[in-house]
Order: sequence, then structure tokens, then C-alpha cells
Amino acid sequence: MVSTTYNICTLPGDGIGPEIMAEGKRVLSAVGAAYDVDFVCEDHLIGGSAIDTTRDNGENVTALPAETLQAAQAADAVLLAAVGGPKWDDPSASVRPEQGLLAIRKNLHLFLNLRPVHIYRALRDASPLRPERLKGVDLLIVRELTGGLYFGEHKREDHVEGAGVNGRAGSFASDVMQYSEYEIERVVRWAYEAAQGRRGKVTSVDKANVLATSRLWREVNHRIAKDYLDVESSDMLVDNSAMQLVANPAQFDVLVTENTFGDILSDEASMLTGSLGMLASASLGDGTALYEPSHGSAPDIAGKGIANPLAQILSVSLMLRYSFKMDEAAATLDAAVEDVLDAGWRTADLADSATPVSKVLGTREMGDKVIEAFNKCCAK
Ligand code: IPM
Ligand code: MG
Repeated sequence: MVSTTYNICTLPGDGIGPEIMAEGKRVLSAVGAAYDVDFVCEDHLIGGSAIDTTRDNGENVTALPAETLQAAQAADAVLLAAVGGPKWDDPSASVRPEQGLLAIRKNLHLFLNLRPVHIYRALRDASPLRPERLKGVDLLIVRELTGGLYFGEHKREDHVEGAGVNGRAGSFASDVMQYSEYEIERVVRWAYEAAQGRRGKVTSVDKANVLATSRLWREVNHRIAKDYLDVESSDMLVDNSAMQLVANPAQFDVLVTENTFGDILSDEASMLTGSLGMLASASLGDGTALYEPSHGSAPDIAGKGIANPLAQILSVSLMLRYSFKMDEAAATLDAAVEDVLDAGWRTADLADSATPVSKVLGTREMGDKVIEAFNKCCAK
């Protein structure tokens, strides 16, 4: 039998990125071996490491080199770890690592970002919420990813008459938030389709009592809801949603919202799982899809070998599901992660005072445990 080959553009990025990416790749080879698929990974630069390298080479300083974008466009899928760090945090810097991330999302037309929030039974106690509040929690955040505030014009002016204190000259800044109907429609429609395969509920989150973009969002949501009468549809204001996510998170099935709200609410929702280190994401659109953990580059623990690789590994699972239709392999990998946690293994971020020191693993060891559990599941 001739095995299938998939080319993966891997972007380790900065901070803990390379460490967790190493585990993502090892898991990918284990999946490939079990399912007779050849995953060929090729590393490329993005974020702070791209800024440093292009600067050192005397090239145009950029967080997304053209060569990386071309490789991503040509690949079957992109697997990204994390970008950013204090080294590149100077607010006056003209090029910032996050620009690489935004640029690759925009250039690959990844207008849809999925962040599934799944509660692992073994991690009930790791969440800051009482376990009874977590009963029945299983939600999917659908975040618009290439519009809104992040992509509107960003402006800064200094020495503006009257912008300083006491009527003196000072600085002024603005960010433009805009949405067109079609940008909203393609995301909201996707949310309804997803809900049909889940618990049949969509909550569309906006700030329609204040923002014009939100009023348009809500209007589009109401129109689309009519095409999916089997799906229960509701609107919720974003401030209320932030509160409901901790007060009664089980009420949500699919939560769909614009870029900035989705960024904020998904970090909040990650804590339901016990750690931001558990939240994977898939960014989909017209071209190559991209998979990445929802967390950042955690510079404070970079290089120590203690970062939690599970969000990266779970991003691999999303890639198997959405890009390669390898649903069984994805389910097996998800089950392997569940098994490892059930067996009591933890990375430092997931450990609490009740966790025995002997159960706390480093990044690599956690990767080993998942691969072992995956192979065991496959052998069953
Ligand atoms: C995320 C991150 C990014 C975002 C940053 C790093 C630009 O927070 O993926 O949630 O805001 O989209
Ligand atoms: Mg974020």
C-alpha cells in the first residue's frame, strides 16, 4: 500500500514555542506510523525569531518572511506554536512578533477560529470553578479572526493640541473597528452548521447596545438563524457573556463572536479547563488551515522544559480532524490525552497541592506519556 504524504509547515516561533512544537511533531509521527501517513514537517520562521534572523541577515526586518508565507500557502496544513516575548515588547518598535501572527492569518484568509472548551474529568479540581459548576460544560468558541479592531487602521499622533492633561499638547491614538456583512455572515453561518452536529444551540455575542458593528452583527445573526430553525439561537451582550461563562458555563454550546470579544472570552473560558495550557485552536478559511495553541509563548518558563505541550498536541488532533479527515486518529489522540490525565500525570501548570511530586512531568515526558497512551489505544 502506498502511504499518503502530507506536508506540514511548522512554525515553532518564540519562548516555549520550540519546546512544545517538538512534542507536537513527535505525536504527529506516532500518528503517522499508526495510520500509515507520512507527515513531512518543515520548520519556518515567524514572530520574534523571524525579526531577529531577518535583522541579522541585513534583510527587511519582518515577523513574517515571504518565504514562510509561501511555504505556508504551499503546505497541506500549518502547525504553529507561539510568538512573542519581552525581548520584542518595546511599544515603540516598528515591527512586533504578533504582527507575524496577524499577517499569516490575514494572508491565508483564516477568517474563522475554533476554540473547543472541553472539561477533562481528571482536571475538574484544577479549575478555579467549583466542580459542580463544570457539569455539562462543553462549548465551542467560534471567533471571527481577520476583521474588527485588529485589522482596522491603527493610528497614533503625538504633540496634538489639547490631547494632553490640562489642555496641553499630548498624544492621541485610535483603532478602527469595522465589519462588513459578508465577513459576519460566513462566520455566523459556520457556527450554525457546527451547532447542528452538536447540542443545537448558538449564542451570538455582541455589544449591540453600544456598537454599530454589533448591531450589524446581531441583524445578520437573526437573518441566518431563520435558515437553521432546528438550532436554538440567542444573542448575548459581551459583558453579560463574560459573567455567564463563570456563573453558568454549561448553558453554552456554540458561542460565536467577533475578533476582540472572542480573544478575551476564549482566554476566560480556558480557565474552565483548569489551564490556558489545555486550549487548542483551529483557524480555517479559504486556503491552508492553521492550528495553534490558544496560549502565548510563556517567556517566563521558556527553555526550562516544563511547559505544558497538551494544547499543542490537541491542536494536532484538530488538524487531523479538519484538514485530513482523520477523525478516528483524532479521537484516539484525544482519548490518549484523557487517559494520561486520568492516570494522574500533570505538567506544573496543572498540578495542585494534592499532586504528588512524582506525578509532575516536564514537556518531553508529557509528550512521551501521550505517545505511549496513543499507541496503547491503537493496539486495542
Ligand atoms: C490569540 C492571541 C493573539 C490574538 C495575539 C498574540 C495577537 O492572543 O491567538 O488569542 O489576539 O489573536
Ligand atoms: Mg488571545
